[in-house]
Amino acid sequence: MDTENATEQINGKFKGKDILSLDQFSSKDIQILFSAVKKMKNIAVNSKPSKLLQGKIITLLFYEPSSRTFGSFSAAVKRLGGQTIAVQDPQRVSSVAKGETLEDTIRVFESYCDAIVIRHPEKGKVKAAADAAFFIPVINGGDGVGEHPTQALYDLYTIYEKFKTLENLTLLIAGDLLNGRTVHSLLKGLSLFKRNTVYLLSPSQLRLSRDDFFTFSNKGLKLIEIESTKDIPKNAHVWYWTRVQKERFTNMKLYEKVKNRFILTPQLIKDYGNKNMILMHPLPRIEEIAKDVDTDPRAVYLRSQIRNGMYVRMALLALILGKSVKNKR
Ligand code: CP
Repeated sequence: MDTENATEQINGKFKGKDILSLDQFSSKDIQILFSAVKKMKNIAVNSKPSKLLQGKIITLLFYEPSSRTFGSFSAAVKRLGGQTIAVQDPQRVSSVAKGETLEDTIRVFESYCDAIVIRHPEKGKVKAAADAAFFIPVINGGDGVGEHPTQALYDLYTIYEKFKTLENLTLLIAGDLLNGRTVHSLLKGLSLFKRNTVYLLSPSQLRLSRDDFFTFSNKGLKLIEIESTKDIPKNAHVWYWTRVQKERFTNMKLYEKVKNRFILTPQLIKDYGNKNMILMHPLPRIEEIAKDVDTDPRAVYLRSQIRNGMYVRMALLALILGKSVKNKR
């Protein structure tokens, strides 16, 4: 929405707000969102008809491919009785192909709907879209190497569901920390809570940017960079594996060199894991997690992590569209 500051803080009030970055959230805002998730889960798991978003239309404008973000937002709207305008690949199927600007496209679609979810390959373009929208909220469904706030919100929910806290946790985050937008948003989220330690495992070429490293460290997140699996701590609560982001590379030789540097295997879990941990991945997974890890009961990436994406997005849509999401006692 075209506010003076499109990345304004949530501050307990979701209604009408753009969701562009985890920077907008406080730990309290995250708790408000989480408290709405239970009701959404009940609606979805029991296929309960809901009229919460009846009469509402959400545009899903995806300039980049997506399975989960597109699919779960689409399902979330429909689970709550709303409808979608689905525009995948607008460069091909909309007037973007004729040269229409992002700003004009946004102003057109905001005339038809109540909120827009956008994915864009360029960092900052979703904010530009939010600035262009006069009347309705815009949700960032992933902007290039920037952020993926709704992914981080359900990643945090998945961790919270397991450990009942988001404090005093030890995590291992592995893979492409430079280009992975899910990692950037997740680190922002974790830095809102006290005494978390994150081990960062990546090839040196894909380390977290120095800006991000110092920003998160200054926020109180303890970050420990490692380059060998031998340095993985055995007491981690979460292993969060990520894909090397091929689409962000200009040098394909470098991509080939680093893409399978760290592969999550049953042996690695045996050597450095523990009974109580969970194994996460934002997906899509290519080869960085061996398929035989999928049946490990600690692997949540193709199970609860995915489902939580829909529940959390249901809750978020309801909140920003001003619907009551209080649980009945
Ligand atoms: N995790 C995620 O954003 O997946 P998609 O790219 O399939 O939406």
